[in-house]
Amino acid sequence: MKTYRIDGATGTSTIVVGGRLDQLRQSLPLERMIIITDGNVRALYETAFPAAPVITVEPGESSKSLEGLAAVFDGLLELEADRSCFIVGIGGGVVCDITGFAASTFMRGLRFGFVASSLLAQVDASVGGKNGVNFRGYKNLIGTFNQPEFVICDADMLKTLPAKEVRCGLAEVVKHALIRDAGLMAYLEANVADVVRLEPEATERMVADSVVIKSTVVNADEKEVGLRRILNFGHTFGHAVENIQGISHGEAVAVGMLVAAEISVLQGLLSADDARRIRRLLECLELPVRCSVSPADLLDAVRKDKKRQSDAVHFVFLRRIGRAVVRKISFEQLAPLLKKALAAE
Ligand SMILES: NC(=O)c1ccc[n+]([C@@H]2O[C@H](COP(=O)([O-])OP(=O)(O)OC[C@H]3O[C@@H](n4cnc5c(N)ncnc54)[C@H](O)[C@@H]3O)[C@@H](O)[C@H]2O)c1
Repeated sequence: MKTYRIDGATGTSTIVVGGRLDQLRQSLPLERMIIITDGNVRALYETAFPAAPVITVEPGESSKSLEGLAAVFDGLLELEADRSCFIVGIGGGVVCDITGFAASTFMRGLRFGFVASSLLAQVDASVGGKNGVNFRGYKNLIGTFNQPEFVICDADMLKTLPAKEVRCGLAEVVKHALIRDAGLMAYLEANVADVVRLEPEATERMVADSVVIKSTVVNADEKEVGLRRILNFGHTFGHAVENIQGISHGEAVAVGMLVAAEISVLQGLLSADDARRIRRLLECLELPVRCSVSPADLLDAVRKDKKRQSDAVHFVFLRRIGRAVVRKISFEQLAPLLKKALAAE
């Protein structure tokens, strides 16, 4: 078991890699605990939950909405939750996002923590204190920065994760390798079979390395005014693809990363060899590598994305594997690059 810390202006978060769901019983007072989970995770793990009331949301992205949030608030009202309550989200990224936001806003804020049950949640979504819901087709438009007091990453829970969800989590691990850790990239390339099967050693390495990368970046820039933007690598077009094609977050990020890598090559930053390495790894991990959305539709979606700043966007480029750079680029400059990048696929 290893622990990592985020010391943010919005609170301190302890992330326990190799922790266990049943630790909850020992570490929190049960009287005022309320659990938020989704139907899938509840069906699989309810018997291991501490004896506390449970609010259940529908599995999937549709719960990350004002309607999903209203259902959680209704549950909290019914349970007569007050500021003495501690809210624990047990689930994937959707449960973490909605729990963090509901807990941060109900009665102006309740204490909260997570047991991250999907790979994507363990390597990314549960860590860093960004909580939010989607609105009118915009990803994470309404949200808060607020650190969960703890995050438990229980590797045993990943054993029940469907293969497609494993791949989605792997996309975010690849992202971390590409922006900050060439050694992790080499490890993923050399150990694809273990990585895909989530062998214990591979899982521990991927989760621990990802948590180190994300917590280091968040400790340097909690509110995303500078360095934290690198964590959005692949997400500018990824979110657009996710919205338009309706595919999973992790799959869309894989497509977005490859588009961003090709654009980095066109800008003379990344070598074509490195871009090929990225494509090969994503293919080996059985992640999608082709974008079936037209450049015009993609750009239109990016324009509408919340990250837009007037006529330009902060775009995350790769200089090499393990090194990301953020540059502001106008839509006028981005349009021909995107067209060429998609034609190169
Ligand atoms: N807040 C952040 O910093 C941040 C970062 C990255 C992603 N995200 C968000 O995270 C979400 C994606 O997260 P996700 O991929 O975990 O999605 P998810 O929460 O929908 O989980 C994926 C599926 O796996 C199931 N599941 C979860 N744990 C399981 C387990 N142990 N066994 C079996 N099934 C299990 C869920 O019920 C769901 O059907 C997106 O909404 C994305 O925007 C947030």
